[in-house]
Amino acid sequence: MTAAPAPRPGDHELPWDDLRTAAIAAARRAYAPYSGFGVGAAALTTDGRMLTGCNVENVSYGLTLCAECGLVSALHDSGGGQFRAVLVVSASGEPCTPCGRCRQLLAEHAADDCLIDASGTPETIEQLLPGAFTPDRLAEG
Ligand code: THU
Repeated sequence: MTAAPAPRPGDHELPWDDLRTAAIAAARRAYAPYSGFGVGAAALTTDGRMLTGCNVENVSYGLTLCAECGLVSALHDSGGGQFRAVLVVSASGEPCTPCGRCRQLLAEHAADDCLIDASGTPETIEQLLPGAFTPDRLAEG
């Protein structure tokens, strides 16, 4: 059990309700005919953009794109930058915990003070993916 992250300046202003509404709407746009499990991810960027992504399945199951993949694509397609807050839900509005691959994807694009709500409680990326493989590790050889 990891402790909740210490609040940082601005945390109380993060628009969790707006992110949840946007993520549920995205989950309802998912293409998930095989699992029937729509997922929506919504994010606020550090410069104030709101972005969403939904999962897109494929008949070759392993090619499925998670909602977080769409979210990262939206980040770069809308100008790049970093996430300040991320929320992931199923179409029914229940929190959806990111798979291992998506934790690594989020880690690459999360600001240092990013909070991720995938369980009903905002957590840091370090809590979701302790000891992540990050770009600075490449320099360590
Ligand atoms: N899924 C996501 O979109 N994100 C995750 O982090 C976990 C799983 C999707 C993939 C698949 O379309 C469906 O949930 C069932 O696994």
